[in-house]
Amino acid sequence: MIILDNISKSFNATHAVKNISLTVNTGEIFGIVGPNGAGKTTTIRMMTGLLTPDEGKIIIGKYDIVKESIKAKSILGYVPDKAFLYEKLTAREFLIFISSIYSIPRNEALSRMDEMLELFGIKDIEDELIESFSQGMRQRLLFASALIHRPEALLIDEPFMGLDPFGIRMLKDVIKDLSSKGVTIFLATHSLHFAEELCHRVGFINKGSVISIKTKEEIKGMEGGLEGLFMEIGGGNKF
Ligand SMILES: Nc1ncnc2c1ncn2[C@@H]1O[C@H](COP(=O)(O)OP(=O)(O)OP(=O)(O)O)[C@@H](O)[C@H]1O
Ligand SMILES: [Mg+2]
Repeated sequence: MIILDNISKSFNATHAVKNISLTVNTGEIFGIVGPNGAGKTTTIRMMTGLLTPDEGKIIIGKYDIVKESIKAKSILGYVPDKAFLYEKLTAREFLIFISSIYSIPRNEALSRMDEMLELFGIKDIEDELIESFSQGMRQRLLFASALIHRPEALLIDEPFMGLDPFGIRMLKDVIKDLSSKGVTIFLATHSLHFAEELCHRVGFINKGSVISIKTKEEIKGMEGGLEGLFMEIGGGNKF
């Protein structure tokens, strides 16, 4: 479903991503972990089309994210680490706006919106301005907006940011459910515990390169689990 083919990206002298190649299967939950500054967000931003790779290509479904960006974006959902939200809109107005971007017919949009507001536990605050939302409420709204067009692949940068324990449990269930329905999930996280629990495979990225990919079964069999491996191969990272 997702192919990264030898992608690289530099910002002036900083080689943020160096020759990353990997494939994510349909319905798979693929996690990337790695130290601060390792290149996770840069990789995800290239996958969304927000950044263009200097080298290599990215295929989402059947589409090249650079050459067929509109088609690729129509099947992608994206939850960024730092989000821009329209502070003067209510949650409801925001979701109607997002639905209109994807040309979802109005009646359909209204029913999907109710479904999303319920799913993410923000139905009771749907008419409040986003500027009054706490961090966790914002994260819930971001998820609702990223899923309203029913994407085939969901890219998430730090999924659990700001969520309370109920929110974390709810989101884990949503991610597992989406995957069981064939939605492909690519997530970057510092929560090794959740990566271990949720992901079918986890890639380690350090200094712009993927240095190891492990399956859930391989991680289970390792002494110290994911955290042990992280400390061994990435813990000594210095900027
Ligand atoms: N817009 C930019 N301009 C210059 N350098 C950038 C830019 N975006 C990222 N970088 C650099 O690219 C490298 C990778 O950053 P990136 O944000 O991808 O890391 P990350 O793995 O997501 O880190 P974190 O765990 O802190 O979120 C870092 O050295 C960072 O300083
Ligand atoms: Mg990041």
